[in-house]
Amino acid sequence: CGITGYIGLNDAKEILLKGLEKLEYRGYDSAGIALENQDGIHIFKEKGRIADLRAVVDAKVAARAGIGQTRWATHGVPSKINAHPHQSLSGRFTLVHNGVIENESELRAEFLQDVKFKSDTDTEVIVQLVEKFAKDMETEEAFTKTLRLLNGSYAIAMLDTETPDTIFAAKNKSPLLIGVGEDFHVVASDAMAMIQVTDRFIELMDKEIVIVKRDRADIYNLQGEVMLREPYKAELDMTEIEKGTYPHFMLKEIDEQPLVMRKIIQAYQDGNGNLKIEDEITKAMLDADRLYIVACGTSYHAGLVGKQLIEKMAGIPVEVHLASEFGYNMPLLSAKPLFIFISQSGETADSRAVLIKVKEMGYKALTITNVPGSTLSREADFTLLLHAGPEIAVASTKAYTAQIAVLAILAFVTGTSKGASVNINLVKELGIIANAMETLCDAKEEFEQIAAEYLPAAINCFFIGRSIDHSVGLEGALKLKEISYIQAEGFAGGELKHGTIALIEKQTPVIALATQAGVNGSIRANVKEVATRGASTCIISMKGLETEGDRFVLPAVHELLTPLISVIPLQLIAYYAALHRGCDVDKPRNLAKSVTVE
Ligand code: G6P
Repeated sequence: CGITGYIGLNDAKEILLKGLEKLEYRGYDSAGIALENQDGIHIFKEKGRIADLRAVVDAKVAARAGIGQTRWATHGVPSKINAHPHQSLSGRFTLVHNGVIENESELRAEFLQDVKFKSDTDTEVIVQLVEKFAKDMETEEAFTKTLRLLNGSYAIAMLDTETPDTIFAAKNKSPLLIGVGEDFHVVASDAMAMIQVTDRFIELMDKEIVIVKRDRADIYNLQGEVMLREPYKAELDMTEIEKGTYPHFMLKEIDEQPLVMRKIIQAYQDGNGNLKIEDEITKAMLDADRLYIVACGTSYHAGLVGKQLIEKMAGIPVEVHLASEFGYNMPLLSAKPLFIFISQSGETADSRAVLIKVKEMGYKALTITNVPGSTLSREADFTLLLHAGPEIAVASTKAYTAQIAVLAILAFVTGTSKGASVNINLVKELGIIANAMETLCDAKEEFEQIAAEYLPAAINCFFIGRSIDHSVGLEGALKLKEISYIQAEGFAGGELKHGTIALIEKQTPVIALATQAGVNGSIRANVKEVATRGASTCIISMKGLETEGDRFVLPAVHELLTPLISVIPLQLIAYYAALHRGCDVDKPRNLAKSVTVE
């Protein structure tokens, strides 16, 4: 979920709604705002998108303070009733929340047995608790007392009719920033939401409270101690978060990939044109006897490619783990592990939970992320940035290729420092990749054609590949299911015959990647196996390895780096398949870009 707040001299409505639009990537199944003026609190909420909320907001209500939220449902179905803001029984307190309160039922039983709840959300527990405590104490005290009782994650903004012109905000585990302007303050889950009004933001740490007024923001910890913190300048360009002439962010972000490659090459080069990373990161890599990559979703898939790159170039063994599994089922660790967290947003709760755990165990961690200053970056020992610019579409594209490029640089620099014979001129090869990416982005019609030919009536689709192509196939399948809702799976070519081949029927689409010389013959044999059983097969191969009948031949690039280009056709096929089916490409159902709950 994403939250916003504004307190100043202008009309809060538009600022809150615009902010929520920028936060829609965090969830979009319902949304609401509360506006505070001399007549009291005015709440507007609606199931669906911010556009649906806009339609029900009364344009006549003017207010100089307010809070808002766009929701990704965890407790309680997406509905108008469960949409935030939530109010206490008397209507005195109004609150928006992002996160999950784990002990809500205990709190209900202990303190709120007499309260008749209006919604199914855990959030309502917070606002009812504040009201209960505020009967005998000041709001600030009641708010602090409530927060001390909460287990779980929260970013909160609250209004109190008896303390007008004030927003009470707090955070634990979920991100929250305070924006500072001339004569106003804002509250937001992400700087992007409020860059329209200010570029100065104050970071909040876990278990901190902020009393936000028009002209000041006072931060305290839960023990009531004052915390002093200066604002930082958010380096965000408004044009980077607009679609421009593109119909969808996803298409814009796919097209940005060549540029991102060039930015990465530049960012990781020293004055002599050699690739560099900070010495302490190289040292940590060299000190480790085993690397543990931890990530979710697309970032996990980038990690699978990263394993191959690091093992081949740097000769250090690598394990790749899903954060949500690792946290509860930790593998036996080696004597000197180094943890690498890969996360576009740097906010994913599953990954953060593991980071906290391994830090507690005294291990070092490196975060590879697109968002400087994000939680995973702040809390790790080291950070490598992706330089991909904001990624807005829920389906990740440019962050995936950026992650692989940065992992390649990490592998290369580590390998070279170790004196391993790293037989690749990576700067040159990444330059070739950027050009090849451009060629592919210029060939969109070809991929639109493949989508039109293979997927309009498909109920499922399989992606096969061997070795590194297998990892890319997993990502191709994820892209397709995320945005077109076609059931898709990625498989190792050799595994087909051990089960999946039973699913092959007449016209089942099977997309095969053939970019690896060592397995070119065997993947083609797998394609024959399914073709014989009626599948519609589509081979995407690479120059030098092609055979007649291949549906598309990728430009030749270094064998280790093929995922950087072979994924582009898969991204575009998924994009067009979703488009042809009338799906909402940038905001697929049930998903959110940044999942800040475990
Ligand atoms: C969500 C998104 C995915 C993303 C995953 C991990 O599920 O929908 O696209 O890959 O989170 O996100 P992260 O920001 O940690 O890379």
